[in-house]
Amino acid sequence: MRVMIVGSGGREHALAVRIAASPMVSYLCCAPGNGGTRLVAQNLAVNPEDVAAVVALAKREKIDFVVVGPEAPLVLGLVDALADAGILAFGPRKAGAVLEGSKAWSKLFMQRHAIPTAAFATFTDADAATRFVQDSGKAWVVKADGLAAGKGVMVAADVAETLDAIERIMRQREHGAAGAEVVLEERLLGQEVSYHVVIDGERFVPLAAAQDHKRLQDGDRGPNTGGMGAYSPPPVVTAEVEKKIIERVVVPTVRGLRADGIDFRGVLFVGLMIDHGEPRVLEYNVRFGDPETEVLMARYGGDVMPLLLGAARGDLSQLKPSWSTPVALCVVLAAPGYPGTVKKGLPIAGLAAASQIAGVQVLHAGTVADADRVLTSGGRVLCITASGSDIDAVAVQAYAAVDRIHFDGMQFRRDIGHHARKSS
Ligand code: AMP
Ligand code: GLY
Repeated sequence: MRVMIVGSGGREHALAVRIAASPMVSYLCCAPGNGGTRLVAQNLAVNPEDVAAVVALAKREKIDFVVVGPEAPLVLGLVDALADAGILAFGPRKAGAVLEGSKAWSKLFMQRHAIPTAAFATFTDADAATRFVQDSGKAWVVKADGLAAGKGVMVAADVAETLDAIERIMRQREHGAAGAEVVLEERLLGQEVSYHVVIDGERFVPLAAAQDHKRLQDGDRGPNTGGMGAYSPPPVVTAEVEKKIIERVVVPTVRGLRADGIDFRGVLFVGLMIDHGEPRVLEYNVRFGDPETEVLMARYGGDVMPLLLGAARGDLSQLKPSWSTPVALCVVLAAPGYPGTVKKGLPIAGLAAASQIAGVQVLHAGTVADADRVLTSGGRVLCITASGSDIDAVAVQAYAAVDRIHFDGMQFRRDIGHHARKSS
């Protein structure tokens, strides 16, 4: 089978490693891929958000199956366009991608189907939103409705910050049209977890729970990022909590999608806050998390292709995932300036030495190959992933590999997995 992965991050490199290893796959390309995917696949230059160009490329390469990494092409209808061209794809159609593409829509979906989430109100009028906040006399989490590259959420500390966020999102349109509507949401406390389920339109297969680290600095301080590292499994997701997640969130979500006439095939990544054992939904994503995918792919037992194909074909009835590797942990190495404007084109040293450490995979995100050098090309540059049977040992391996890598201004956290590590 000829397979194409759309995207260029650490998530796509992690998927590429596993898909390339499948006996079902005769050819794998990444569109556009990065400096790491070229080692396991053919990189083909294309803008993933140019739907017509991606479809034309898939036709030219005689692709049988496309795995879509990021959310933007899904929201733009890439899977619908591929289906029109007779090409099977992993990922929801546009109608399902709205769960991530519109935060107002997804909150109303949760309300309609009685799925636990923070109390909220939606506004298309900035004056009305302002009055609502002033009348409430308290701080709110302010979310731009549309996609904003992970930057459209402000967790305000007080009324003034809430009003400032409304001003920037709705009036100054800091995130463009994504800010035409906002969701004001009550702030939830607790531990955040990432729960992925693969859905075939009807059935779902839960993947292992994972935990991301959103803040830039150790101790969960500093600005929010796309994620500075992840590990799996997180201790906060006990068997009892997982049962609640399935019964109260996953089952009603899958049922709700069907009731709303949406044939959702792909992965649903539910961002949850767990407070005293009670799960509430923070957000839905209609794609794999990054860097969660790096640890999920490191733990997944056997071939991943039957999972991805089963979802796309609408039949996961025979699929039983196994997590043959008990734990995995990954540390993101970010560029200077991240999560703001970053410096690019910095040479990276130590990649080969780092990958020699047992149990370690050096996954690339924002990198490009330039002759025999590898250069930084984005905010999150590398994701050093280690897997094994003990979280403390795995953290030691991951950080030993991190210590062998260097580029100017490299930023990373030393405390990834701190909720699980005895040593931290
Ligand atoms: P979202 O894209 O909706 O997940 O928001 C991005 C980040 O903002 C989340 O990962 C949380 O860290 C934080 N966040 C979002 N909603 C809330 C909330 N209601 N309470 C507390 N933190 C939140
Ligand atoms: N790691 C969070 C995300 O992928 O949205």
